Amino acid sequence: MNPEQSANPEQSARSEAARSARPAQPNGTRGESPVADRRAIARAALARARRRTLALTDCLTDEELTAQHSTLMSPLVWDLAHIGNQEELWLVRRAGGEPALRPDLDALYDAFRHPRADRPALPLLGPEQAREYVGRVREHTSHVLESVDLGTGGDPLLAEGFVFGMLAQHEQQHDETMLATHQLRPGATVLHAPAPPAAAEVGALPGEVLVAAGPFEMGTDTDPWALDNERPAHMVDVPEFWLDTVPVTNAAYLEFIADGGYADDRWWSPQGWRHRQDADLTAPLFWRRDGDTWLRRRFGRTEPVPPAEPVLHVCWYEADAYARWAGRRLPTEAEWEKAARHDPAEGRSRRYPWGDAEPTPEHANLGQRHLRPASAGAYPAGAAACGARQLLGDVWEWTASDFLPYPGFAAFPYREYSEVFFGPGHKVLRGGAFGVDEVVARGTFRNWDLPIRRQIFAGFRTARDAAPREAR
Ligand code: AVJ
Ligand code: FE
Repeated sequence: MNPEQSANPEQSARSEAARSARPAQPNGTRGESPVADRRAIARAALARARRRTLALTDCLTDEELTAQHSTLMSPLVWDLAHIGNQEELWLVRRAGGEPALRPDLDALYDAFRHPRADRPALPLLGPEQAREYVGRVREHTSHVLESVDLGTGGDPLLAEGFVFGMLAQHEQQHDETMLATHQLRPGATVLHAPAPPAAAEVGALPGEVLVAAGPFEMGTDTDPWALDNERPAHMVDVPEFWLDTVPVTNAAYLEFIADGGYADDRWWSPQGWRHRQDADLTAPLFWRRDGDTWLRRRFGRTEPVPPAEPVLHVCWYEADAYARWAGRRLPTEAEWEKAARHDPAEGRSRRYPWGDAEPTPEHANLGQRHLRPASAGAYPAGAAACGARQLLGDVWEWTASDFLPYPGFAAFPYREYSEVFFGPGHKVLRGGAFGVDEVVARGTFRNWDLPIRRQIFAGFRTARDAAPREAR
């Protein structure tokens, strides 16, 4: 394989046919032939995910694919075959009703049976076997997709191609995880991508935007591929608050470091302070100080920390401490979604910050198109109604909220996707990073992780109450 291969050879070659076949209004009214549209959209989404998966794995040697680069992560060859096994389970067996291709693999690639650290010791498929397996599964999937009924009157799993969308989202989420594994590899980068668009001077933007008080619709009942944890739609009354216009930048975060933020327990929650001590946190992951300058490693290359970029690779505890140091707080999940979706003029929630139109390269930094965040203040066309920028793309944003079910939640189609993770142990992240494909980027999408995690592509922005304390 060509080690110089770009991780995104396909982005300009994205299926124009599939794109033009998309419904104009993803939330509601559809084109003339919605089922044919959904089939084309599913076909394109699965193909796009596979190109990404192969780009992330074809660029490495067999040795690199089978090695465990960090005990936090699986060997890449595990992700590869796990993608195929989930697809076999859901699309070939369940949706297609076909007999199992490799039932012997089910236990090996069950994420709940083997923690990541134990996966290298399993009798995994080798790289060539894994490629052959995922390719064979995909051939079966393609036949199933062309033959099943995607109408809304039948099996809810198939309605509007939901399960195909679910598997495209599953594969893309593993593709982002694999990108994080690439970032953890100490070796030289084999991933290349053009630089993101420059930002206008961020100082020309207001530092924060006001989101007026009032109810808004959170979550969705109508988005055909929304996952169970995004449902049902429900009204949430959010008091007036101020939100950072852009994510917190490296320059701002450096001030926190320079002010001794990591050495002052006043800024940290009790658990956060304990973790900061135990893990000896002193700066974001992948940063190191060289004399007076801070350097960071990005996909195997070391470079000065770019001041204008959103800070990346901080855990929830660090985000929470920074916010307290700044005299602010993290936004709640409801605040984040209201800022991202609420359109006060029309009194409704949008699918994306900018409206309902599918993302284009002008709206947001998505899809591993650029292998880094754009500077804060970029993507004016992607601004939300409230004026906040870069809510989608660039960096995942930690919120103050625990990952909890919405009122009326029902697990669908399996408890292990969301339900088993609900509770105070996991914090919600919103917005999606530069590594996220558009199939997983929407205003309702919810991500979650442990508050100690830093290898994910996470940053944050801060908020504050608008109402003065004495006003009751
Ligand atoms: C939603 C990103 C937390 O990676 O654990 C992948 C997605 N679920 N396979 C994860 C997922 C099953 C999940 N996150
Ligand atoms: Fe998975």
